[in-house]
Amino acid sequence: MSANEPVDQLTEEDAKAELLRLATTLADADKAYHGDDAPVMIDADYDALRRRNLLIEERFPKLVRDDSPSKKVGAPPSTRFEKVTHAAPMLSLDNAFDDGDVQDFVARVRRFLKLEEGDPLAFTAEPKIDGLSANLRYENGVLTVGATRGDGQVGENVTGNLLTIGSIPRRIDGAPEILEVRGEVYMSHTDFEAVNKRRTREEPGKDLFANPRNAAAGSLRQLDRAITARRPLKFFAYSWGEVSAPIAPTQFEAIAQLSEWGFATNALTRRCETAEELIAHYQYIDKSRATLGYDIDGVVYKVDRLDYQGRLGFVSRAPRWAVAHKFAAEQAITVLDGIDIQVGRTGALTPVARLKPVTVGGVVVSNATLHNQDEIERKDVRIGDHVVVQRAGDVIPQIVRVVMEERKKGARRFVFPQACPVCGSAALREENAKGEIDVVRRCTGGLTCDAQAAERLKHFVSRKALDIDGLGTKQIDDFFNRDIIREPGDIFTLKTRQAAGEIDLYTYKMKDGEPQLKDGERQPTNLKSINNLFTAIDARRTPPLDRLINALGIRHIGETNARLFAQHYCTFDAFQRAAIAAQDSDSADYQQMIDIDGVGALVAKGVIDFFREHHNRHAVGQLLAQIDPQEMKSTASADNVVAGKIIVFTGTLETMTRDEAKAQAQSLGAKVSGSVSGKTDILVAGPGAGSKLKKAEGLGVKVLNEADWVALVETSL
Ligand code: IVH
Repeated sequence: MSANEPVDQLTEEDAKAELLRLATTLADADKAYHGDDAPVMIDADYDALRRRNLLIEERFPKLVRDDSPSKKVGAPPSTRFEKVTHAAPMLSLDNAFDDGDVQDFVARVRRFLKLEEGDPLAFTAEPKIDGLSANLRYENGVLTVGATRGDGQVGENVTGNLLTIGSIPRRIDGAPEILEVRGEVYMSHTDFEAVNKRRTREEPGKDLFANPRNAAAGSLRQLDRAITARRPLKFFAYSWGEVSAPIAPTQFEAIAQLSEWGFATNALTRRCETAEELIAHYQYIDKSRATLGYDIDGVVYKVDRLDYQGRLGFVSRAPRWAVAHKFAAEQAITVLDGIDIQVGRTGALTPVARLKPVTVGGVVVSNATLHNQDEIERKDVRIGDHVVVQRAGDVIPQIVRVVMEERKKGARRFVFPQACPVCGSAALREENAKGEIDVVRRCTGGLTCDAQAAERLKHFVSRKALDIDGLGTKQIDDFFNRDIIREPGDIFTLKTRQAAGEIDLYTYKMKDGEPQLKDGERQPTNLKSINNLFTAIDARRTPPLDRLINALGIRHIGETNARLFAQHYCTFDAFQRAAIAAQDSDSADYQQMIDIDGVGALVAKGVIDFFREHHNRHAVGQLLAQIDPQEMKSTASADNVVAGKIIVFTGTLETMTRDEAKAQAQSLGAKVSGSVSGKTDILVAGPGAGSKLKKAEGLGVKVLNEADWVALVETSL
């Protein structure tokens, strides 16, 4: 029998021997990994052995050993969680910061729904829990998969860990066949303190959790669920994902239904009829904050009627039917010790305040952004000043103002550099198209500036871009400084270059000027193992198109715009070809690019400028020689006849507003244009249509009335 013998061909005797071998090998591996911190095998092999052990045990349950690896909780079952693609994306929320924003939100919703003045419109208002969201999928009433939010499209499978949470039912009676319940996993203040206390006792020297949110996130994403089980997490249900049958006609009743099914829901949830009632409830919740026993960072308002929610739909990543009214940020006073200049991946020189460390909202802050040169002047910030520092949630701490009464005589003004502190090139404030001077001063060194090149690489490997595990900021700096990685394509040739002896990824402990080569003294900088790194890199050789576009670090292209481009062009080739052709602003390619909903001229300029540069095209070419980007699949349904069509709306619509019709068309993948041309596929004409209708008829464009359009949309959903 060999170690690779298929499990279903093992005799009982073989199986017994194999289980003994696996128990010993895995125990040794565990000891090496946990005890000695010196892994003896790569994680993928380790996972494969554990899987094999489980399979054999499933086939021969009688042979399960007392010391079986499957019974041990000390070792991680896997190095990474399995990915889960959400059946319905998990969205974020737009923010409101003051009463005016809340009034605007209510007015916007009323306008979108075309409500008359006296028409009622109810909302729910509930605390915004400061934890991390999770999706619980029930099939026929049984919890099958529990996942984190991840990037909203794809999360991590943490079912086992979620099952350790008491307030999450495993089974539900009377639920629809498919029911996805969404809510927030959080840790109470008391439990947070207890967890940190225990950590101090049991693992002295290990960092304590900075706040309950971090503690909840760290605990839920434990590979070893026995650890999660020792961390008292809780769950509030507030929303849902895919459902095979509607659970209620309103948000309020849906939450009541979730509570009936056994979920904890928030008792401070109220129904409100006006902006004033929402604000009153916000103030009430704000006052109760200190006694709640868990962290909240605002109040979420949601349109109550679910049919209205459906009509309002989404913009980009947030629903139109909800908003998060945030609490004022927390503040503290400290001293500004100095101002450092950081150079970002686009060459922007950002002043960063160096502060005497101070605790703000439970976190120690020693840096804060000062945004730009004008901001320093506007706030008259001088070195040595006492300043008010503010932080809100995950936002980078900011300097709100100077405490002028504390200003010392002779406090120094900061002189903003006119040259890049990293490469010495001139740093300029450019003029934009409108002739305004840009607030940002930028290094003109491009990729010859090491700061920009290294920052771009860090962005390339970051979580929301290619997400290469094990290649963090420190490794990029190290490999960049040693000329091992200078551009993205170099990452994918590390393995072959290392094997060929062209590079040496290791750094050496030096003694008396000599590298120490004895085993164990040869250490890759900040890496657990070079093989782990190669495995992580290999796992990213077929990146999703949107991640790849985001990873390139093109100006004005982040996650959202990258997704728009990926959805529009579907392949990298098509995207690049269009970007190059669009250099000619009279071309159809240019027109098409700026017509992509959400793109526009500024974003298009970012893409066009990027591909205009020879060194960028070269770097992309080198990269594409190493990787094979995935094609973006259209998410549209098979019956969707609207996807990809260019649609123009004209005249008055009666059952919905123009914005609503436009949003609906876009959500089905259509492009909405303002003018009729030979390329227009459909003109939807309401009463009062004039010249556009005539032009469309002249060009032979298909014309629909509102009822035809509604029918077409219904068949496409
Ligand atoms: S509703 C489609 N309700 O806030 C909207 N979110 O900033 C779904 N959150 O990712 C979210 N408390 O993690 C909603 N009562 C609440 C919430 C809540 C906390 C979180 C959630 C979401 C984030 C958006």
